[in-house]
Amino acid sequence: MPAHVVVGLHYGDEGKGKIVDHYVARMRDEETPCRIVGRYNGGSNAGHTVKVNGVTYKFNQIPSGILHPKVISVIGCGTVVNPSELVQEIERLKSAGIEVSPENLRVSYRAHVITPECIEEDRVSGSRIETTRKGIGPTYARKANRTGMRMEDFCRANSNEAELLKPYVADAEDLVIETLEAGDFVLAEGAQATFLDIDFGNYPFVTSSHAVAGGACVGLGIPPTEIREIIGVAKICMSRVGEGPFPTEMGDYGRMKKDPLELLDEDGRYWEMTPEEKALVGKDDYQTARFLRRRGMEWGTMTRRPRRLGWPDLVLTRKAARINGITQLAITKVDVFNGIPVKVRIGGSDESPEYSERVYRWDSIIDGSRDLHDELAEFLDDLQNFVGTNVSIVSYGPSREETIPIY
Ligand code: GDP
Ligand code: IMO
Ligand code: MG
Repeated sequence: MPAHVVVGLHYGDEGKGKIVDHYVARMRDEETPCRIVGRYNGGSNAGHTVKVNGVTYKFNQIPSGILHPKVISVIGCGTVVNPSELVQEIERLKSAGIEVSPENLRVSYRAHVITPECIEEDRVSGSRIETTRKGIGPTYARKANRTGMRMEDFCRANSNEAELLKPYVADAEDLVIETLEAGDFVLAEGAQATFLDIDFGNYPFVTSSHAVAGGACVGLGIPPTEIREIIGVAKICMSRVGEGPFPTEMGDYGRMKKDPLELLDEDGRYWEMTPEEKALVGKDDYQTARFLRRRGMEWGTMTRRPRRLGWPDLVLTRKAARINGITQLAITKVDVFNGIPVKVRIGGSDESPEYSERVYRWDSIIDGSRDLHDELAEFLDDLQNFVGTNVSIVSYGPSREETIPIY
């Protein structure tokens, strides 16, 4: 059986974790269920959220496949690992009742280790591009400079964490190849996204790994000829966290950064908007973004920073589709636009984007007859025609069930 890849098409947080979970659940009853879900890039800078049966799970380094019995989760050689955060993540999942053991979690011995020095360096040097301060850049820099520490080295050292993690560390890439050779199915879960990729993103406002689908080959040991389907995940209410270009941004990033009302309080709650501010939703981009941020809970999973929001950008989505060679589109968060007139970028330059004359507006996802709302269906048709790839999954809520597979 071949491998499939789930990749983010924009700036991260498209809902990759949710789509992976939905996909694995859907395949459970098929003749060849998913055997491995593997992460091929990034580290604890990622935050993937999955909601199942009313319970929300947050993943940083462990693939969301861990929620599925009989699936082996792999952290591949293209990732970087923070050992203490990984130990905590394992413990957190276990205490939530999820089985995690060396039977169903393998960490590549080739993956590089994020050290406290890397984190400190990132804290100082990462502010210009507003990194997650997780030590990602300095760890990949040491890897390229051949001065880094791999998981195999880490496990040889005498420490509590090394003892705890040693049983998980393995030749994960060999396991991936063996699995494919045995005719089983492997799903690669991307972290970050196309325009945060170190080469294809808006350098230097990028992360330090290969987030594009090609990264799955070198980051997980999947032979390129084994990749059959590439599912590109696009969140139609686009978002970006941190510095960098964002052509269809709603409102003003500088203003948002200084706006204390856009920060979550200590308990993770947001400030409600006043009726006067709400009256401007759909008319004023800044207030529309504030409204959508609340509706879509658009604050960083890890950093809790407010996410910058933008109108759907079909030009960027098409560019990402070509870079990744996607064969299917998964569209997420269609629900957050309910009742809001949606502007869509179809041309112009990144500095001066052009929007379609047609503005779409749907007030619900499904109408009484269990069909998609007409305007949403037309939006999806126009989107797939523009991008040149069929939409195969539509997501309209955080839960596994709030997903429509359109074959
Ligand atoms: P990832 O990093 O790409 O996995 O995405 P994140 O998990 O960081 O961010 C996506 C957020 O949107 C999470 O809080 C998800 O629970 C949530 N989410 C995913 N799909 C949908 C959807 O279709 N509708 C809504 N309202 N929320 C969604
Ligand atoms: P997931 O997998 C959104 C952003 C940071 C910063 C830039 C570089 O959840 O989609 P880094 O710490 O990687 O050196 O920061 O990349 N960034 C993300 N934004 N989602 C992510 O991951 C991100 N991982 C990194 O905000 O702008
Ligand atoms: Mg995320």
